Amino acid sequence: MEKNGMKNNMEKNILEYETVDLDEEQNALIILDQTLLPSKTELIRLKTAKEIWDAIYLLKVRGAPAIGVAAAFGIYVLANRLDTEDYGVFYGKFTEWKDYLDSARPTAVNLSWALNRMDGVCRANSGLPVPQLKRRLKEEAYAIKEEDIRVCRKIGEYGLELVKPGDGILTHCNAGQLAACRYGTATAPIYLGQERGYGFRVFADETRPLLQGARLTAYELQAAGVDVTLICDNMSAAVMKNGWINAVFVGCDRVAANGDTANKIGTSVVAAVAKQYHVPFYVCAPTSTIDFATETGEGIRIEQRPADEVTQMWYKERMAPEGIKVYNPAFDVTDHDLITAIVTEYGVARAPFKESLRRIFDKKAMPQ
Ligand code: MRU
Repeated sequence: MEKNGMKNNMEKNILEYETVDLDEEQNALIILDQTLLPSKTELIRLKTAKEIWDAIYLLKVRGAPAIGVAAAFGIYVLANRLDTEDYGVFYGKFTEWKDYLDSARPTAVNLSWALNRMDGVCRANSGLPVPQLKRRLKEEAYAIKEEDIRVCRKIGEYGLELVKPGDGILTHCNAGQLAACRYGTATAPIYLGQERGYGFRVFADETRPLLQGARLTAYELQAAGVDVTLICDNMSAAVMKNGWINAVFVGCDRVAANGDTANKIGTSVVAAVAKQYHVPFYVCAPTSTIDFATETGEGIRIEQRPADEVTQMWYKERMAPEGIKVYNPAFDVTDHDLITAIVTEYGVARAPFKESLRRIFDKKAMPQ
C-alpha cells in the first residue's frame, strides 16, 4: 500500500479531493483514507485484493456509494494485472476476487451491486480478446463513478423541494460527499441549498462508535461553509423538542422492497424521535441501494463489528472495563412506517413503499 500523505492545510479544501479514483499509470485504486480525517489527509494507492478488502472492512473507504465505486475500480485493477489471453482463466480469477471483495462488508448492497455490474460486463463480452475486455471493465468502473455523481445531484434536487430556506436539518452518520463521489446523498439537498443561498442550519449527530458524523459530516459541511452544529447522538430529541429541526435527511445502505431501511446504527432512534415530534424523516436512496430481492428489513444482514470500536477506539485511554460484554452492530433497520419518504434520483417515494418503489423502477426503465 503506497501513501501520498499531506497534513491538512487551508490551501486545498477536503471537498476538492476525490474520495475514490483510479491511478491508470500505476494500475492502482486510490482512496482518501477516511479513518485519518479530519486531522490528516492521506491518499492511498491499493493494488492487491487483500489491501482493497482491508480498506473496505476497516472503513478507510466507506459509505454505500463510495464502497461500490471502490469495488468497481478495485476489481478492474486486479483483473487488469492478470497475464492471460484465456477467457476461462481470466473469468475464473475474476469471480474468485469478486466473491472475496464482496465478503468485506455485508450490509451495503452497493458493494455486490457494483461487483455484479462488473461481472455482467465480463459475461456479456466473453467473446472479446482479454485486452479489450479489460478496457470495457475500466469504462464500466468510470461509468459507475460518473453515474454516482449524477444520481446524487438528482437526489439533491428532489430533496431540496421538501425543505425551505432557513430550515433546520438533522443528519446522522456521514452520507456526504465523503461517502460518495460528489454531493453525497443525505447532504445533496444541503449542498444544493448552499449553492442557492438557502441558509440551512444543519445538526450533525456525532454517530458513535466510529464518529462518522463528528469526523466526516461536520468536517465536510464546515468546509463547504454550511452552518453546521455537532451534537451527540443522545441529543436529537432535545433539538427536535426545541423546534430547531424541520426535516431529517439520512442515507441508507439497503432498502428492502417494503421500504424498511438499513442505515448506520442509531438511525432508527432518530426516526422514532422524529415521529414523536412530527418532524419529517427522509431517506435519501440511490436506486442502486434499493434491493427488491429482500422483502423486509428482517432479511437484511447486519454487520457486527469488533468490541474495541466501542471500548477504546478514538479515546486516549480505554473507556470501559476489561472483559466487558459488548454488542456492536454497525447498522439498524428503520421500519418503513417511521419513514416519511424515500428520495431517489427518479423522484420521491411515499407509503405504501412497495408500490411507490416499483413505480420509481418503472420510471428508471423508461428511456429518458
Ligand atoms: O459504516 P459506514 O460508515 O460505511 O456507514 C455509512 C452509512 O451508514 C451511510 O449513511 C450510508 O452508507 C449511506 S452513504 C451515502
